[in-house]
Amino acid sequence: MSGMVTEVRPPRRDEMAAYYRALPCANGLPSWEPADAAWHGGPEPWPPQRTPASAEQLEKLAAADIENESFHPIATFVDGECVGASATISFEVTVPGGRTARMAGVTATGVIATHRRRGYLRQMVQAMFEAAWERGEPLAMLSASEGSIYGRFGFSPATYRTRWELARHEAALLPAEPDPGSLELVDAAQAKTAWPRVHAEVRAHRVGELSPLPGRWDGLSDEADGTNGPLRFLAHRDKHGDVDGIANFRLPWSPTADRAGTLVVEALEATNSVAYRALWGLLIDFDLTKTVVAPGRPRDEPLRWMLTNPRAMRITRQTDNLWARLLDVPRALTQRSYLAPGSLNFTIDDDQMWPANNGTWHMKADDAVATCVPTDGTADLTITLSALSSLYFGGMSAQNLAHAGHITAHADGAIGHLARMFWTDPEPHNSFGF
Ligand SMILES: CC(C)(COP(=O)(O)OP(=O)(O)OC[C@H]1O[C@@H](n2cnc3c(N)ncnc32)[C@H](O)[C@@H]1OP(=O)(O)O)[C@@H](O)C(=O)NCCC(=O)NCCS
Repeated sequence: MSGMVTEVRPPRRDEMAAYYRALPCANGLPSWEPADAAWHGGPEPWPPQRTPASAEQLEKLAAADIENESFHPIATFVDGECVGASATISFEVTVPGGRTARMAGVTATGVIATHRRRGYLRQMVQAMFEAAWERGEPLAMLSASEGSIYGRFGFSPATYRTRWELARHEAALLPAEPDPGSLELVDAAQAKTAWPRVHAEVRAHRVGELSPLPGRWDGLSDEADGTNGPLRFLAHRDKHGDVDGIANFRLPWSPTADRAGTLVVEALEATNSVAYRALWGLLIDFDLTKTVVAPGRPRDEPLRWMLTNPRAMRITRQTDNLWARLLDVPRALTQRSYLAPGSLNFTIDDDQMWPANNGTWHMKADDAVATCVPTDGTADLTITLSALSSLYFGGMSAQNLAHAGHITAHADGAIGHLARMFWTDPEPHNSFGF
């Protein structure tokens, strides 16, 4: 391999087709590890592999991506041949306190099979961190195709996603006040108008939710998607007639008798509990169906507490969803607010990719403002960069991270104090990925 010229840099416009060919989304090779259960309604836990994209499709992709100012591709070239590709997308993510932080979302990533395990992914990740820092994005996030790849770069789980099923005959809701609003089956055009408004309101309050990419809901359509059938849209209007909740669902063709009568809820967001309850109320008791399947849902789905039999909601798959990695520790920590006021000195000493994060930091939080500055004072605890990244969104247990050795207390009560400061409720969730 000596004598090879390796470059890690953004691809030029005329290199974009070669760039995509390194990616599973274009070359058709697997992009996700096999699992015991599917995320969707059907039985296939590993999607069929796709045929590679045509030159024409790649050109279309390139034209769209070049237009998109929040898309930042990076590639590895060996002797001029593109062997690795990745990209970050600039998002805003909701952090505790109803604020947002700028975030570099690491997306489609691949190193071609003949060139893997030579350190190219590591170099691309480092380059993406540097570019994100320069853009002023204090943290990065991603969803991991395999759980053992990204911890070494400082990423650690921050949100979960859950798939659950509910048999219709068990789907009884507890009594509630009558709904002053109404439900309506709408078409794709109406859904496209409603989704951005509903999501904007939801994400203002839900930690972990993301700003939508341009065109996020453009693909919604009333046309059938093969044997999956068309997507249907159920909207809820408040008493003034404004849409305050919406769901996308499907009644797919069932290849086997045991799957017949499945209603799949592909997305559901509501700005308030009345709309949320009304939407689910119809979807879990839809005539001529047997089972509701809801993939990609929060682990702490409130519907469970609305059922007469909370156990009837059966979790059939659950995994980490977005992983977080703080790039600029003081800046990230001062973006969010903290449940319990207080101050804390903590040491980070394991950040090899971004050494500026190492040192002892003095953090102080009151109701609205937090500060985080270097200190010569004694540390209350030492925490790994990845544990701090998980804690940042407020959904992980500081006690568990300490049990596992990711946090070491140097003062009495330090872990409890850390836990109370960082906690958030409801737990972080992102209703779509990237
Ligand atoms: C995952 C993938 C991008 C890794 O690229 P790569 O260039 O081989 O990774 P690197 O050589 O830079 O590896 C960096 C480190 O991660 C480790 N690593 C890389 N992929 C790994 C994997 N799948 N499982 C466990 N460890 C892995 C390497 O051993 C290396 O460890 P070290 O730093 O301790 O030596 C590449 O194998 C690939 O394209 N896989 C198929 C598609 C895919 O899974 N993409 C990810 C989408 S999220």
